[in-house]
Amino acid sequence: MTASTIAYRASLLDSLGDPAEVGLEHSCRYFEDGLLVVENGRILAIGPANELLPTLAADIPVHHFKDALITPGFIDTHIHYPQTGILGAYGNQLLDWLENHTFPAEQAFASREHADQVADVFLGELLRNGTTTAMVFGTVHPESVDAFFNKAATLNLRMIAGKVLMDRNAPSTLTDTPEQGYQDSKALIERWHGKGRLHYAVTPRFAPACSHEQLARAGQLLSEYEGLYLQTHLAENTREIEWVKTLFPDQGGYLDVYDHHGLLGKRSVFAHGLHLCDDEWKRLAETRSAIAFCPTSNLFLGSGVFNLTRAEHEGVCVGMGTDVGAGTSFSMLQTLNEAYKVMQLQHQPLHPFKSFYLATLGGARALELDQQIGTLEPGSEADFVVLDYAATPLLAFRMQQAQSLEERLFVLMTLGDDRAVKATFVMGERAHSRT
Ligand code: GUN
Ligand code: ZN
Repeated sequence: MTASTIAYRASLLDSLGDPAEVGLEHSCRYFEDGLLVVENGRILAIGPANELLPTLAADIPVHHFKDALITPGFIDTHIHYPQTGILGAYGNQLLDWLENHTFPAEQAFASREHADQVADVFLGELLRNGTTTAMVFGTVHPESVDAFFNKAATLNLRMIAGKVLMDRNAPSTLTDTPEQGYQDSKALIERWHGKGRLHYAVTPRFAPACSHEQLARAGQLLSEYEGLYLQTHLAENTREIEWVKTLFPDQGGYLDVYDHHGLLGKRSVFAHGLHLCDDEWKRLAETRSAIAFCPTSNLFLGSGVFNLTRAEHEGVCVGMGTDVGAGTSFSMLQTLNEAYKVMQLQHQPLHPFKSFYLATLGGARALELDQQIGTLEPGSEADFVVLDYAATPLLAFRMQQAQSLEERLFVLMTLGDDRAVKATFVMGERAHSRT
């Protein structure tokens, strides 16, 4: 081991598989008193402290986090960075909310200076909340994505983002054309896709804001470059779905509009999917497309409840999304808290191991990044979080009554937020410390 090796001692937890596939008891790996050894930005070893400590060279520093749990960094599969300034904007459901709050806020991203400022605040918030990878919407302005990738590159983050494509049903200051959207996306792809830890996502906002021609150009981009992602919204709100039917009368439904243009696939992430018909579930599974489950957003906009159990039965891949700014928190812990309540409404209590899976390995699988991130497996990139069981007086008190790992994890998810994130590490470097 070389001088760049560092070891971290704490409780360690990561997911090994989806509890729905491997069973709850085999879904996690846990060391009550564990040691995580990191070398050159990657995980070198994980195991019980009493076994690994004697194997370490004497000059390797060991940081001991007491009363803490180290987990992989959280993965947010759906979020809008330009909406950082409109969290908690009052009033009405999706289409009114877009018109009254979202579109006005996004117009400000014509200014590069504004985009730089918001990208800075946004990435700071992700790190304060322990999120190390996200799939991110920009605005229609290519500069917004340039600003975002610039900042993400400086922080050495694994991030996916794209410029919004929308050529209709939005203010003229926020629309592009199929050709302009194609050319702007192409230039961003050439500049950023595959650079360091960054990936590009072709980003048609949602079917109502895109013409057939624009969706066709989105499909063209996907066919022209290797490894691109696709992110959009799907079946979020019942009024939206009716609108899609009138805008695309020749298509078989909302998902079919995207399918028609070749937008489904293993790197495609559809946010929400609250009101899907049988054929749509089947098609998502067949094409290995993923859904981003965004509970705080779905409740905030009164959109509906996501049927996670159905997704499991259909074999559709799911990751968690905060969907800031319709989502009300950057915190993955708070997002899981709301996911639990959404599942309670459906009489399907969400087990903390499943929640944990969705926020880590499940998210990585949804993004086809599970070889790089999402676990503490040796060889993985060392993006991890230190969660503090005693972050607040209430958490510390409550933890005294919570003895098992399941209980402690569940309490963290219910009471925890950014205050529970003691530190966030990116490629083995400390990127955030709670003071
Ligand atoms: N559908 C189209 N655009 C958006 C958006 O910005 N947020 C949400 N939640 N849904 C959308
Ligand atoms: Zn969204």
